[in-house]
Amino acid sequence: MSHTHTKSTNIHWHQGAFSRDERWKALSAKGATLWFTGLSASGKSTIASALEQTLINAGLNSYRLDGDNIRFGLNKNLGFSAEDRAENIRRIGEVAKLFADSGCIALTSFISPYRKDRDLCRELHEKDKAGAIPFLEVYCDTPIDICEQRDPKGLYKKARAGELKGFTGIDDPYEAPQNPELVLKPATMSVDDCVRACLDLLRAKGVISG
Ligand code: ADX
Repeated sequence: MSHTHTKSTNIHWHQGAFSRDERWKALSAKGATLWFTGLSASGKSTIASALEQTLINAGLNSYRLDGDNIRFGLNKNLGFSAEDRAENIRRIGEVAKLFADSGCIALTSFISPYRKDRDLCRELHEKDKAGAIPFLEVYCDTPIDICEQRDPKGLYKKARAGELKGFTGIDDPYEAPQNPELVLKPATMSVDDCVRACLDLLRAKGVISG
């Protein structure tokens, strides 16, 4: 049975005391999800951490959800089959949306290799019944040979040696976004340049000002 089969019945949505607008206004905050996607070692987590630091230092609530880290806890029961990756991404899409709904700028860094899984997360945000929450897809477009040269965890080497099966980019596909809000080229852009581009995007979408 697929992970997404609905088992909950007799449940009723409970509306809290605040609407989202009232909450954001009272907190002087605006929530959004910045969805980083790209190959392993493409720079997602490095850029997301630097961006998180910049936002927090500016007094804006931001929180990073990171693939490797989340797989130690919430998603420790998921592997790397297509079905498990889909469930990994679906859960993170839901969690990021909750963070964003609370007025936080959620930064997700997951390979999220399959287009349909990312599109589902976008839909969760954009079709929310209380109104759309900004979902901004940021593609870390680093050529695989650069990721493989970096190989900070030695996983490309293992995958090439046949010791790790189903590794993204080697023997499992990565489907690049067709219409991302932002494309970063971490192989030729500095981390600061990438952070600046993300800040410009957040400004252009009205999430942050100044
Ligand atoms: S995703 O495909 O489901 O989005 P996620 O971002 O959570 O992946 O986790 C990717 C991280 O898991 C990689 O950076 C790497 O450290 C590790 N990993 C272990 N096995 C694999 C694999 N088969 N494919 C990709 N990453 C793997």
